Amino acid sequence: MRVRCPNCGSESRLPANANVRSHQGSSSPDGLLPCLWSPDVALDPKHRPQVPGAPSSTVRKDWRKYPQEAHLLDIERCRYRRLTEDEIAIIQGFPPDWGKGIGLTPRERIAGLGNAVPPPLSAALFRALSLTLGDDLRTAAEICAGFGGLALGAHHALQVDAVALVEFWEAAVRVLRTVRAWKPACVHLADVKTFDWDALADRVDVLSGGPPCQPWSQAGHAKGASDERDLLGEMPRLVTRLRPRAFIFENVPGLMSPTHRPYLERLTQELRAAGGYGVAVGLVQAADYGVPQRRKRLILVGIKDRPTGAAHDFFDRLYQLRTHADPSKALPPGLRPWVTLEAAIPGWRSVSGWRRWLDASAQPSHLTMNDQNKQDGPGAGTSSQKPAERRVPAMGLVWPGRDHAIEWRDSSWTVVPKIDNLASEVAPLMPLTPRGRPALDP
Ligand SMILES: C[S@@+](CC[C@H](N)C(=O)[O-])C[C@H]1O[C@@H](n2cnc3c(N)ncnc32)[C@H](O)[C@@H]1O
Repeated sequence: MRVRCPNCGSESRLPANANVRSHQGSSSPDGLLPCLWSPDVALDPKHRPQVPGAPSSTVRKDWRKYPQEAHLLDIERCRYRRLTEDEIAIIQGFPPDWGKGIGLTPRERIAGLGNAVPPPLSAALFRALSLTLGDDLRTAAEICAGFGGLALGAHHALQVDAVALVEFWEAAVRVLRTVRAWKPACVHLADVKTFDWDALADRVDVLSGGPPCQPWSQAGHAKGASDERDLLGEMPRLVTRLRPRAFIFENVPGLMSPTHRPYLERLTQELRAAGGYGVAVGLVQAADYGVPQRRKRLILVGIKDRPTGAAHDFFDRLYQLRTHADPSKALPPGLRPWVTLEAAIPGWRSVSGWRRWLDASAQPSHLTMNDQNKQDGPGAGTSSQKPAERRVPAMGLVWPGRDHAIEWRDSSWTVVPKIDNLASEVAPLMPLTPRGRPALDP
């Protein structure tokens, strides 16, 4: 990819997926305001600008706290802006006005959206379940319903009759009560642990939900079962009480980490014993289902009175339902490349709020590659470079953080993504056999 600097007219060649470029002594020809962040914020390694030509990285509820991770970069014009709440809704696979106009604060809306299962992924989950069971699933109950992403997918795929959506966050309940896909009366502001489930016993075809994932998140404290927010451990008891024909639980991939894997294996055994369920666990990539976002999710599925192989079949079906694939690899026949932000948000250029993303005067001029190596570890710079070359000049420097490196290219210092890191970030998430076997069968 060739990028021309609008200030000095120079051209640079960058990798196709490069998303940051630095320039020396650039000014602001388009009258945009400079960045209002302090350099500390602007240079925070957590800053992961989103680029129009690729899917977003994972939307996090923490984007309400760290908006610097939710910035859209306009490479050609050296500017950036915050993603709007409506754009975040789109990136999560919702209509742009999801949760809008009911008095939620921007933080509440971003948090609820960031927590959700993208409805296109959810629809694929329920379609795969229906195909596996081979008959209709008519009723559904949802625990920890959040902003309703999982429940909306169930509605889109199967038109199920939602008999209960249980959620104890008042803001989310307000959103759920505006959704026409189910009756407001079936939305309960209640704690899953104390809700009266016995009234619904044998009346639910599918039980689904996303118990809080913080205990397992690799970004969190990963306290697992000792975390008081752990609801997963309650699921075998709930399944025993409700006796659904099938269940789908969604969580973060951290649950498969070596630390938590024994817990996951124990949980899987308990779920199998909760009424003769065939149970399997797999990882899915939301971008494979048309969502403009790379988002890995762990899926735990159980099917009553069927062997474990039936749950394997679910993952086969799910795999076959993919509509998109990683364009950096050979595209399987019939699949389209992952949806980019540009395609998902065609009006992204016209949204206001752009700032110059490099404020040369605000950046420190004394950073050297040694400083960078301290932050980024070995390999970020090359020891064969002469000291003079290794000094990063006084330019609009973007601290590369863990995802980027500074390279000397075309006679200037350029911040480029670390290709290895990008590759691992977008690596196939459902390490499947050709038939689509799940990653784990504990
Ligand atoms: C990961 S989000 C679920 C997102 C949802 N599946 C969606 O697609 O929009 C987890 C939700 O569980 C809710 N929650 C956590 N513990 C709960 C409990 N004990 N009872 C009810 N809701 C709970 C949180 O408020 C949060 O909204």
